[in-house]
Amino acid sequence: MISIESIRKDFPILGREVYGKPLVYLDNAATTQKPQCVIDSISDAYRNVNANVHRGIHFLSQEATDMLEAARDNVRRFIGAGSTEEIIFTRGTTESINLLASSFAWAFLKEDDEVLISGMEHHSNIVPWQIQAQRYGFKLKVIPVTDLGELDMDAFDKLLGPKTKLVSITHVSNVLGTVNPVREIVAKAHKLGIPVAVDGAQSVPHISVNIKEMGADFYAFSGHKIYGPTGIGVLFGRRELLEKMPPYQGGGEMIKKVTFQGTTYNDLPYKFEAGTPDYVGSIALGVALDYVQNIGMEQIAGYESELCSYAMQRLGEIPGMRFIGNAPKRSGVVSFLVGNIHPSDMGTLLDRLGIAVRTGHHCAEPLMDRFGIPGTVRASFAFYNTKAEIDTLVAGIERVRQMF
Ligand code: ALA
Repeated sequence: MISIESIRKDFPILGREVYGKPLVYLDNAATTQKPQCVIDSISDAYRNVNANVHRGIHFLSQEATDMLEAARDNVRRFIGAGSTEEIIFTRGTTESINLLASSFAWAFLKEDDEVLISGMEHHSNIVPWQIQAQRYGFKLKVIPVTDLGELDMDAFDKLLGPKTKLVSITHVSNVLGTVNPVREIVAKAHKLGIPVAVDGAQSVPHISVNIKEMGADFYAFSGHKIYGPTGIGVLFGRRELLEKMPPYQGGGEMIKKVTFQGTTYNDLPYKFEAGTPDYVGSIALGVALDYVQNIGMEQIAGYESELCSYAMQRLGEIPGMRFIGNAPKRSGVVSFLVGNIHPSDMGTLLDRLGIAVRTGHHCAEPLMDRFGIPGTVRASFAFYNTKAEIDTLVAGIERVRQMF
């Protein structure tokens, strides 16, 4: 059983007021707040162990390197991956997918090949593929989204074929909250020998993820969405594939030997980590993962699902409420419109009441076009949110509604 009161005390920012009102932070899908232990780990790292990693023979450098590599192993365990060679630190999900698109396309994609994505992808799982498609001439195919906000799996079956070289799909939609059937997708794709990449930005903070069970060949996520710092993220990749893929960036650390005649590359994962890495970010991400593991991912998932259902029920009582995304399997977010009120007007007025939600297209413009809307209001939850905060949101929306 989660003790919300004691958990909230771990997050100093939750005690803030905005416009003289207690902060109600419901924008966790954009970024989560940080517990004191994560904040402390950042200043501790700079105060006590700061030195460049993998480069120095001196004490501090070795200590910082050990802490970085311990964090990598922590990530590996957290997502149930087999080896730390398969855990690449990046700046976040966006960089993870750009790395993947750039390197995978170079290694494996040519004209007339197809990469299959879906109609509910965030721009970060669309645009990197479009950039590479322009370069290599492959085609991007899109699995349609149903009115409920689920993937059209019949269409998926038809789109999957001999030309498909990769499926790249979000685990949980950042707009609809839909939890996609990634295991089924992986099973179908693997039957045809097609690898699957999963954007885990919105799933890893909410659902217990096990790469081995899921079977994904690539999995990307961001530290800042799972209570860690900004600027750090992860790309998991299956070793056999990563070994065949060229580096994404060149520089220090990713090489074995450099001469003007040519360069040989370092082993995994360092081949993909050019330059001084954000070792402080990695260390703090490790602390964030410890923090959520202490609470328990199953507990978190259970409590958040209760919060989501409560939010749907209470919001559903508001006249003119239209939910965007009604999939039965959902997690983390609720998107909606109320009557004719423009989402940005709703967001601005809620903000004055101390309620932080996100409004707009949520970096998923094709999905907005699919539903014929300019954007939505999105409330997104973390385990430190309460039913009382949802009541405040509902009261706030009622107030805005009466103003219109
Ligand atoms: N991808 C983040 C969101 O959905 C920023 O808000």
